[in-house]
Amino acid sequence: MSMIIISSLEELWAARATLKGPVGLVPTMGYLHAGHISLARRAKAECQSVIATIFVNPTQFGPNEDLSRYPRSLERDLQLLEAAGVDLVWTPTAQELYPPDFQTWVNVEQITQPLEGAMRPGHFRGVTTIVSKLFNATRPEKAYFGQKDAQQVAVISQMTRDMNHPIEIIVCPTMREDDGLAMSSRNSYLSAEERQAATVLYCALLTATRAFEGGETNAEKLRQVVREVISSEPRAQLQYVSCADYATLAELQTVDHKALLSLAVFIGKTRLIDNFVLG
Ligand code: PAF
Repeated sequence: MSMIIISSLEELWAARATLKGPVGLVPTMGYLHAGHISLARRAKAECQSVIATIFVNPTQFGPNEDLSRYPRSLERDLQLLEAAGVDLVWTPTAQELYPPDFQTWVNVEQITQPLEGAMRPGHFRGVTTIVSKLFNATRPEKAYFGQKDAQQVAVISQMTRDMNHPIEIIVCPTMREDDGLAMSSRNSYLSAEERQAATVLYCALLTATRAFEGGETNAEKLRQVVREVISSEPRAQLQYVSCADYATLAELQTVDHKALLSLAVFIGKTRLIDNFVLG
């Protein structure tokens, strides 16, 4: 069966009714890379039918962020999704999802406060609102997200529990380039020199993780390792480094249980994030 591609909500509802369950959902903003495709393949392996969505969600971008220049490549995305075995692609429009009288938001209160939430006010409200709309429209049994956006995964998992969505959230490993750079659609903004410099995020996380594995459990010392490695790269500007409890994202003093070591770094004007799990 060839892949169904639809845009309107009404067509989606009709097509969804024909899909055999369990249904896996892979929500994306397009400009797909191997990370997205790994989500689609995993969904295909675990579900009878796979729905992918492509929607650059305006409500999760701040006023000074990159919404207008976010990269797009619909034709290529569709080919990649078809090759990965996706059954249905939904490419909704902003007009239909956010009509002029739209006024209902989904807001997760605590776990959205630190890290990305602190740097990008309103970002997670946009994410949880759109993901909740995608869940309602596609009614999947499982939904697939990448570990690279670790806080997003935590926030969406919290929302799924709190709103009683009967959906299992599946977290897939971060896909990396050969030199360790985490795959991201935003890597396409980097110049050749910046792309080279961007490996410093991975180096910093790796160096701190080695220190942890070597017995360093003082969270501030691990954060300091990250700061030092990032400051060795002149094109990199650290926005934050965090060594936090994996479940609550509260900053730790001692890493004596599962922790998330994460950071956000500007390489030139491009903001990149990455993380490793400790313990
Ligand atoms: O991770 C993303 O690409 C987006 O935040 C998501 C989950 C598709 C919601 O717009």
